[in-house]
Amino acid sequence: MEISSATFVKSSKTLKELPPPVRPEYAFVGRSNVGKSSLINMLCRRNGLAKTSGTPGKTQLINHFLINDTWFLVDLPGYGYARTSQTMRQAFSEMITQYVVRRENLMNVFLLIDSRIPPQESDLSIMQWMGEKGIPFIILFTKTDKLKPKGLEANISHYQEVLLQAWEELPPMILTSAQEGVGRDDVLGLIYEVNKGFVAPK
Ligand code: GTP
Ligand code: MG
Repeated sequence: MEISSATFVKSSKTLKELPPPVRPEYAFVGRSNVGKSSLINMLCRRNGLAKTSGTPGKTQLINHFLINDTWFLVDLPGYGYARTSQTMRQAFSEMITQYVVRRENLMNVFLLIDSRIPPQESDLSIMQWMGEKGIPFIILFTKTDKLKPKGLEANISHYQEVLLQAWEELPPMILTSAQEGVGRDDVLGLIYEVNKGFVAPK
């Protein structure tokens, strides 16, 4: 799938302000600074579409971007930066929790994980919670350009081993680099397929 248009729709502070749920949508979830906004820009090939920063906490609201006039990408605030151990509730703000649970047109959550760092409790507990709620998610490993191939491979294998302690099956995973455009075709291809299953609410 190619992207012919990508436009900022609005920033919402509360669920009431969200655009009508009449199109399929995909949300980017992950720790602050993991690269959510950068990945949205990479997918759309539009630097500056979503605001990025080297300082964690840049994205503060629920931001909707309309793609090809047919589906939404959603940039969310990050969680849990630099905190070592947290429960899901503490890590994940009430706003994001409510958004993920209630948004009827949310097709998939993309859970972004920094490929350089070992599994973090906040991410693992959010996966656990999404599993319990039956919310489909896909792991996107980010910043893969910052590692050498061997190091990357070792980190991903370790991540998978940790996940298999809690899960019978691994969730889908895609390696990405916003800097080098890695993973773009895979993510867009997946969205293209999932869009076909969207049924507009009555
Ligand atoms: P919050 O909005 O604070 O939650 O952060 P975010 O997850 O949206 O992260 P953001 O996209 O703002 O990126 C954080 C920093 O990581 C920025 O300095 C980016 O340039 C850098 N970054 C993001 N993706 C990549 C990548 O693929 N490779 C490299 N080398 N740097 C990246
Ligand atoms: Mg951001």
